[in-house]
Amino acid sequence: MPKITFIKDSGTEHAVEATIGESVMQTAADNLVPGLLAECGGYANCATCHVYVDDAWADKLPAPEEAEAVMIEAAFDVRPTSRLSCQIQVTEDTDGLIVRLPVSQTGV
Ligand code: FES
Repeated sequence: MPKITFIKDSGTEHAVEATIGESVMQTAADNLVPGLLAECGGYANCATCHVYVDDAWADKLPAPEEAEAVMIEAAFDVRPTSRLSCQIQVTEDTDGLIVRLPVSQTGV
């Protein structure tokens, strides 16, 4: 199973096993990783699943589709590696993926 590491702004890490075909957001929910509210349930409609993809992974993931690109602009503290974790699919190729949670979401 692919491993995904979520790192909170505080530095706390949650390394979890993911299921191929699920989203990174769903992986966090399945493993009780705190901080990703995912209020819209994964429909690219809320930006409360915002993460920063680790620099080493930024070019390895498929580019965001238009709906994600539009919604990410509504997130707080957007950076070049910002993504909606509900739109990142877990595949064999995402084994080792590292994402960081924005400070705006880590107090949850
Ligand atoms: Fe709402 Fe990802 S869960 S945009």
